[in-house]
Amino acid sequence: MNILVIGATGLFGSRLCPILAGSGHHVLAMTRSPETAKDLTAFDITGVVGDLDDPETLREHMMLSDRVFIASPIHPELGRREADAIRMAEACGVEQVVKIHGAVRHDDDLLERQHEIAINALRESNLHWTLISPQTVMETNLLAQMESIQYLGQMIGAAGDGRVGMVAAEDCAEAAAVALTCDPPLLDERDLVITGPESLTYEEIAGLLSEVIGRRIQYTDFEEQEFRQLLVDFGMPEEDIELQVLCHFREMRRGHAGLVTDTFEWLTGSRPLSVREWAHEHRRAFIPHEAGRTGH
Ligand SMILES: NC(=O)c1ccc[n+]([C@@H]2O[C@H](COP(=O)([O-])OP(=O)(O)OC[C@H]3O[C@@H](n4cnc5c(N)ncnc54)[C@H](OP(=O)(O)O)[C@@H]3O)[C@@H](O)[C@H]2O)c1
Repeated sequence: MNILVIGATGLFGSRLCPILAGSGHHVLAMTRSPETAKDLTAFDITGVVGDLDDPETLREHMMLSDRVFIASPIHPELGRREADAIRMAEACGVEQVVKIHGAVRHDDDLLERQHEIAINALRESNLHWTLISPQTVMETNLLAQMESIQYLGQMIGAAGDGRVGMVAAEDCAEAAAVALTCDPPLLDERDLVITGPESLTYEEIAGLLSEVIGRRIQYTDFEEQEFRQLLVDFGMPEEDIELQVLCHFREMRRGHAGLVTDTFEWLTGSRPLSVREWAHEHRRAFIPHEAGRTGH
């Protein structure tokens, strides 16, 4: 089968491409950069160039594809970008679209409204479609704190006592691969919520990391406004602060990220990685002078 992966260099797409190619499918791995497309090309993966902001650049790839995976960056135009791609997929005779959504319950905020635009485009189409909804991802939330953990023994956040069912990105990619390669009607119009095996507070996660790394990691919690100011002081662009960081912590604090499901096990027959297991796998990323040697 030919499968177009939109977002092939991203968190989920980069893990999905080798899984699909490894199970005998031909992957069209899409990026906006011609140089990156060359680098992506190997064995059953062909790097292709396309831009969601110019849907015509998708046509040729869609015409060659049986199924399409869509992960696009968190952005104020996510809805329009993905909806255009979905309409192009339908026009090109694609059989199924699998889209990344999210498991955290966002109460009608900007991010959720953008996802709704894309999901409505799927509902209005004649395509088979499935959503893969990752719970808060360990790589995004824990590797982002790598240097602070390495050098200061500190994790920071604004999650309060909210529980988070953190999941590994690899498990989300495995789940997406199952959805993309099954008989599409089996998972049609399903929102598959992919989580880790347990739900933990940030304080508990810091405790687990401390045990695995072998030294104390302290979690410091901030009120939202204090946290916003900290991010401004770190030099994060104002336009990124709400969409990339605050809206996620706000929902964690409200207890909207604690859902744990058995969907991953049901789909794959394997247990999802726990934070402790993930931390063992990534242990060196959190130890000064070790991180560079592991590619982190
Ligand atoms: N991270 C989490 O914790 C988490 C949890 C739940 C849900 N999500 C959802 O995951 C999605 C984001 O996926 P991700 O984390 O894999 O994204 P990501 O790591 O930010 O990667 C974005 C990808 O999109 C590509 N891209 C950027 N702009 C593009 C454009 N205009 N046209 C075509 N491709 C473009 C980039 O490729 P090039 O730069 O190579 O072109 C890259 O491959 C969002 O829907 C988010 O809500 C994330």
